[in-house]
Amino acid sequence: MATDDAMPAKPMPRFPDGFLWGVSTSAHQIEGAAALRGPSVWDAFTAEPGRVKDGSTAAVACDHYHRYREDVALLADLGVDAYRFSVSWTRADSPGGLDFYDRLVDELCAAGVRPVATLFHWDLPAGLDWLERDTAARFAEYVSAVAGRLGDRVGKWITLNEPAEHTLLGHALGTHAPGRKLLFDALPAAHHQLLAHGLAVRALRAAGMADVGIANSHGPTWPASDDPADREAAEFYDLLLNRMFADPLLTGRYPEGIGDLMPGDVAADLEIIAEPLDWYGVNYYAPTRVGAPQGAEIEFGGVTLPAELPFSVREIEGRPLTDFGWPVVPEGLTELLTGFRERYGDRLPPVVITENGCSYEGLDDRDRIAYLDGHVRALHRAVEAGVDVRGYFVWSLLDNFEWAEGYARRFGLVHVDFATLERTPKASYGWFRDLLAEQRRVPVG
Ligand code: BGC
Repeated sequence: MATDDAMPAKPMPRFPDGFLWGVSTSAHQIEGAAALRGPSVWDAFTAEPGRVKDGSTAAVACDHYHRYREDVALLADLGVDAYRFSVSWTRADSPGGLDFYDRLVDELCAAGVRPVATLFHWDLPAGLDWLERDTAARFAEYVSAVAGRLGDRVGKWITLNEPAEHTLLGHALGTHAPGRKLLFDALPAAHHQLLAHGLAVRALRAAGMADVGIANSHGPTWPASDDPADREAAEFYDLLLNRMFADPLLTGRYPEGIGDLMPGDVAADLEIIAEPLDWYGVNYYAPTRVGAPQGAEIEFGGVTLPAELPFSVREIEGRPLTDFGWPVVPEGLTELLTGFRERYGDRLPPVVITENGCSYEGLDDRDRIAYLDGHVRALHRAVEAGVDVRGYFVWSLLDNFEWAEGYARRFGLVHVDFATLERTPKASYGWFRDLLAEQRRVPVG
């Protein structure tokens, strides 16, 4: 429980001019109108009993497809510079599907909110498979079609959302769609997504787009102790979750030992994967404490980690936990960004925080305010330390379909009643609106 003491007191430091403030969502989690698009791997997955904890589906979700005008009005009232949404590949491929994004983008432009489009946020069309190389080429074709249709109004693009989570949860552990438990045999899914990213960057460039990034999930990895076995396990985890997805993009190489496990002509693919980016998107939620394997299954943040993994995930003690059980560690964001700057030097383009947020119940969501306030301050410390950060997007505008958790986890600044679909701004919405107004106030004198 937060108390009044947990409420922010000190004034928020000022971010650089032109800093982009926004909120993020994704198609599958909010749109609904499932009958008006083709099926995705997530539709098939949710239809299997036991896959989604509350047995729900995203068939209606927030019904954003029909209520986008109301949602854009909420964005305008919030005062964000930008709105990050994702395009559903299966909708884009369905007759009239791109018309929806046309309308949404027009509405955003009319409201003075800059559209930022993510091209893949996990809802792969059913029948396609990231284990197949050809999916990367198919993705690039779809990206060209979307850019051709929206590129006159959408300037800022994100190729993929969190290929690491999609690989790990969807293909290695099976807790997300498509529900495969391949462990390390899932690595080709990572490589093909990275290849798809590179081909998409090329397709966007060919369509004249000059503001292109990716949204990768990253977090510091903390060894459970100084014991060499714990340190080694933590390094390996860092390699899998952070370096395997950032190194090829930013340095054109996989970390040692990983490239040999990938399919195809890896050297040629890496040239495509490392196409220069205009900026690098980071989704940050929490660090992970990692130690040597303990020979037993581990329940962690809603996921079961099998005993045979070469690491184990441990509790981060002494921290408040979100409703999801994730620890609240704002300084992890400063550590992550300054660490990235050290690791990648000038190869790291300007950074945008493309997601940051937490799940809490209730309209008077002071815990969320405390979380966001702490993380925005931590981000400012990274700016002060010399990291070129250009934007910050809260996850999420609306409570939504939280993947395998169904509707049980609420990440929104705006509450959604899933029986009536009524939207109600939470206290955190008011807090964010005030923060944005304050950041824009022209200093007097
Ligand atoms: C994903 C979102 C998700 C959020 C909270 C991120 O990994 O991009 O789709 O809702 O985390 O779990």
